[in-house]
Amino acid sequence: MEHRRPLIAGNWKMNLNLERALKLAGEIKEGLSDDIEVAIFPPFPFLFEVKRVISGSPIKLGAQNIYHEDEGAFTGEVSPIMIKDICEYVILGHSERRLYFKEDDNMVNRKVRKALEHGIKPILCVGERLEDRKEGRAFEVIKSQLEGSLRDIDASITIAYEPVWAIGTGVPARGEDALEAIKFIREVLGRDVRVLYGGSVNKDNIAQFVRYEEIDGALVGGASLRSEEFLGIVRRTAEVKGF
Ligand code: PGA
Repeated sequence: MEHRRPLIAGNWKMNLNLERALKLAGEIKEGLSDDIEVAIFPPFPFLFEVKRVISGSPIKLGAQNIYHEDEGAFTGEVSPIMIKDICEYVILGHSERRLYFKEDDNMVNRKVRKALEHGIKPILCVGERLEDRKEGRAFEVIKSQLEGSLRDIDASITIAYEPVWAIGTGVPARGEDALEAIKFIREVLGRDVRVLYGGSVNKDNIAQFVRYEEIDGALVGGASLRSEEFLGIVRRTAEVKGF
């Protein structure tokens, strides 16, 4: 099933400078030997140069965000039109965008539509906060994020389940908890989409997620900034998934 081909996606967030970004991209290109899908998400100013470095390799490029309009007086924003020729993917609905930039499901919905309109594949992030989980509302939150962000959209897109409390904390979800949430996501959507896990993934814990048939890969933050670690995650995933 091509649409569920394992994917390891590296979200570089607001890190690195141009020189380090190109070095990292070059090392990933050099070291990549596995036949699963790999995508990297550098900051906007590095996209075109990184594209040049990875050309001739199977590595896909993605953006960390886009705006939901094509053009106009939106100071500081980046239109999908500006990146659609070089980016195959875009991360949308990330919890950091929701928290620091006040993006709600309505805005995420507009961005998902815009990405699809321009042929950019969204990776839609959903996940509960620690207090939601403690109050027993984790699934309710996930369901409302999915329904709100995907309102009137039936395209088969990639979802990343990222419990907020596991992001950047060094404390990943337990494999079985991620599995339970991802099964729930599949049930809510009622269609066969690719679903990733994200939150403190590294090369030593990736197997606890991808060993489940329901979990198709990972969205990796911190560990995607070190080539050896990132390539280790890719290699382990390929082994476990039998590629
Ligand atoms: P992390 O970030 O791997 O550093 O926890 C994951 C993410 O934000 O996608």
